[in-house]
Amino acid sequence: MRVAIVGATGAVGHELMSVLEKSSLKFDELLLFASPRSAGNRLMFRGQELIVQATPEGAIDADVILASAGGAISKEKAAAWVAGGAVVIDNSSAFRYDPEVPLVVPEVNGEAALHHKGIIANPNCTTAVAVLAVAPIHRKYGVKRMIVSTYQATSGAGQKGMDELLEQTHMVLHGKEAGNEVFAHPIPFNVIPHIDAFQDNGYTKEEMKVVWETRKILGDDSLKISCTAVRIPTLRTHSEAITLELERPATPDAVRELLSHSAGVEVRDDPEGKLYPMPLTASGKYDVEVGRIRESLVFDGGIDLFVAGDQLLKGAALNAVQIAEYLQEQGALKGKARA
Ligand code: A2P
Repeated sequence: MRVAIVGATGAVGHELMSVLEKSSLKFDELLLFASPRSAGNRLMFRGQELIVQATPEGAIDADVILASAGGAISKEKAAAWVAGGAVVIDNSSAFRYDPEVPLVVPEVNGEAALHHKGIIANPNCTTAVAVLAVAPIHRKYGVKRMIVSTYQATSGAGQKGMDELLEQTHMVLHGKEAGNEVFAHPIPFNVIPHIDAFQDNGYTKEEMKVVWETRKILGDDSLKISCTAVRIPTLRTHSEAITLELERPATPDAVRELLSHSAGVEVRDDPEGKLYPMPLTASGKYDVEVGRIRESLVFDGGIDLFVAGDQLLKGAALNAVQIAEYLQEQGALKGKARA
């Protein structure tokens, strides 16, 4: 069994390697690819130095390809990777809305992965974090409407996003004016309600991804969802305030109990003890923190809650590796014979 990472030198690539190191996925060899700029770089994996290669034009001789080099690379190359016999787990948005491509969060709709035709899409990070908390509530109480406001870390824009936060904060602290390249405005000491491109309906693409992808993962096109996505000056972990209108009334205690038994979720909800989800505690954690669970003041029997999930992990690398683990556990991932 051979696994390849395309985009190994990026922020998600780095996390993919660290998640794979600890993963139960059985494989014999790991291949690392990035742009030609990084060819020859060495990265450590399980005590061994691996050499980064330039991503080739055509097929890659691997059984699983974890792609995280952006949508353009995935669009250009995925067909050749699939033709070469690999299962592609794609972290970009290139194929997420293709009806032929399953969009998978293993705790929620793992079995969808079994129906792939070569490509499985990993959801947008904001969506992956939200659905872990929302899916169990949807199953039990039926979500009718969902309103989300996000607080998204700079690493959502990759390594260069984190670099811009650190460098520009340094500038401000040294009395200089902050600039911006990655973000629409200077990010230090600011919040920016603009992630990805504005659409004709006034929402951004990031906001619409939450709408489209939540519906696809939960398998419910009738769900009404509205999102405001905001970039904040943190390094990692996306936080989200979520309001849910429900078909059947829920109580905060019942939801707390339900989520305390839900996979991938850690209930962190003791306001008196100052215990609630935060990037500070959720970063580096596999589980998504959920707290501030309370009765909605707007929707009778509805619920308000707050989630914080390390989006480089559950929103990207961890989810991708979990999809591969799931396929292997189900006997749906077989290495090919090699000379
Ligand atoms: P490189 O580091 O060589 O530029 P991030 O999301 O953190 O910005 O990371 C993007 C990842 O995608 C990096 O590993 C980057 O490699 C890789 N990448 C960028 N352009 C290409 C390309 N043309 N072919 C293959 N990989 C690419």
